[in-house]
Amino acid sequence: MITNFITLFFICVFFLFTLSVICQDSDIETDCTNRWIHIRRLPPQFNLDLLSNCSEYPLFDNFCPYLANHGFGKKTHNKSHSWYRTDPFMLELIFHRRMLEYPCLTSDPSHANAIYVPYYGGLDSLKFLYGPEVNSSYQHGLDLYEYLVHGDLPDVWSRHYGHDHFMVMARPAWDFNQPFDSDPMYFGTSFLELPELFNVTALTLESRAFPWQEQAIPYPTSFHPPNLAFFESWVNRVRRSRRKTLMLFAGGGGSSSKPNIRRSIRLECENVTSTSANGTGYEKLCELVDCSSGICQHDPIKFMKPMLQASFCLQPPGDTPARRSTFDGIIAGCIPVFFEDLSAKKQYGWHLPEEKYEEFSVSIRKEDVVSKGLNIIDVLKSIPRGQVRRMREKVIEMMPRVMYRKHGSSLGLRTKKDAFDISIEGTLERIRSRLLEVAAQ
Ligand SMILES: *[C@@H]1O[C@H](CO)[C@@H](O)[C@H](O)[C@H]1NC(C)=O
Ligand SMILES: *[C@@H]1O[C@H](CO)[C@@H](O)[C@H](O)[C@H]1NC(C)=O
Ligand SMILES: *[C@@H]1O[C@H](CO)[C@@H](O)[C@H](O)[C@H]1NC(C)=O
Ligand SMILES: *[C@@H]1O[C@H](CO)[C@@H](O)[C@H](O)[C@H]1NC(C)=O
Ligand SMILES: *[C@@H]1O[C@H](CO)[C@@H](O)[C@H](O)[C@H]1NC(C)=O
Ligand SMILES: *[C@@H]1O[C@H](CO)[C@@H](O)[C@H](O)[C@H]1NC(C)=O
Repeated sequence: MITNFITLFFICVFFLFTLSVICQDSDIETDCTNRWIHIRRLPPQFNLDLLSNCSEYPLFDNFCPYLANHGFGKKTHNKSHSWYRTDPFMLELIFHRRMLEYPCLTSDPSHANAIYVPYYGGLDSLKFLYGPEVNSSYQHGLDLYEYLVHGDLPDVWSRHYGHDHFMVMARPAWDFNQPFDSDPMYFGTSFLELPELFNVTALTLESRAFPWQEQAIPYPTSFHPPNLAFFESWVNRVRRSRRKTLMLFAGGGGSSSKPNIRRSIRLECENVTSTSANGTGYEKLCELVDCSSGICQHDPIKFMKPMLQASFCLQPPGDTPARRSTFDGIIAGCIPVFFEDLSAKKQYGWHLPEEKYEEFSVSIRKEDVVSKGLNIIDVLKSIPRGQVRRMREKVIEMMPRVMYRKHGSSLGLRTKKDAFDISIEGTLERIRSRLLEVAAQ
């Protein structure tokens, strides 16, 4: 294991630092006006060193296996081209790798419209969340700030006081917004509470309810196609797939007696009789895929197959309002059913435009289900077949927007904007308007 990992680690380092040159091919005509990005050089303690500690956190999974393939993890099987055992917390690596092939990189920070900070903030937080620094989580981010402001090139920061800087922190923002003196009572660090870093845009997996310095971007799924042919063959499979289940919930929770939406879903699903699907055109009205205790996390086959066969995928809130499963479901062409706006609508505005929700998703208030006894199956059964088909087409249309395609992918696939491309567009736009605001003050 250790030797495996060391090899992997060096391959990783090698690629990160050499491909930045190799990957800048000139075969796509790119207009870089207002899109220049400079990658801030950081000492390895802020990124690569953190990978070498992947097995050092006794209270956290050994995440060494998930580092493979620049953060995609291992392939699901040897012959797979598009499917990996991806851990969503590895988005910092995935994003960094894609950044290196961004067509409008500049080595001159004063020429850049935005500054990317290749800091693996979620991985760095592990020592505060699960490691030796558990009682000093107010310190998370201070050494980074110190480096950005007083490190090798202080002018890069002082030009706009960090307003043009952005980074990816691959955990929900809730993990980074604890009050300074809350150790060891609460889980989380205070990174996003540090006034020193308020000006920096953080791309997180989930954002807080009110606008802050962070923006939510999609959880990575396990699907990372390398070219247009593999992408299109998947889309065809999704289109052709027979949907024999009305609704599916893949997840855990809801087994306690406390009323909540997951419990209501479980009870409703377990209550379905074998003949109740008669005359509906479905074989089953409801399917539960047990993903409790993270057993599905690195095994996409467990939930992707059933999702391909279901019309609707239920996406109830759990510990946090949003779920990776929402994006897995979209990749499977399974229409998402949301139970509160914070689960997606109020978070992923860049990738899933707010005004489109009625076209590609169903919204049912969780209060109506939990306390008023509204039956989810009845709501979904009443949606006409034609409308279900139209919604599924919309879901399929959204698919590229929430997938992270493979780095170095072919030109054809690069014409489809993926989750990374949309994140960069959104970030550049946000920084542009921020700089205008600051200049006007
Ligand atoms: C890695 O782990 C070792 C031992 O637990 C610790 O001393 C070191 O500070 C850690 N390095 C980083 C970058 O977290
Ligand atoms: C997959 O490939 C690896 C390395 O090439 C090999 O060790 C392993 O046996 C292969 N597994 C299968 C199921 O073919
Ligand atoms: C953190 O603080 C708690 C309570 O004060 C203490 O029991 C625990 O040993 C401390 N942990 C570390 C790693 O210092
Ligand atoms: C953040 O930006 C404001 C101006 O908008 C500036 O006054 C402040 O000093 C900046 N913060 C840091 C830590 O640089
Ligand atoms: C279970 O089914 C019965 C009969 O179909 C129905 O009256 C009852 O409300 C159902 N319970 C739940 C929790 O859906
Ligand atoms: C439902 O379908 C099954 C098999 O197709 C049949 O045996 C059963 O009688 C039907 N039940 C009702 C209530 O129509």
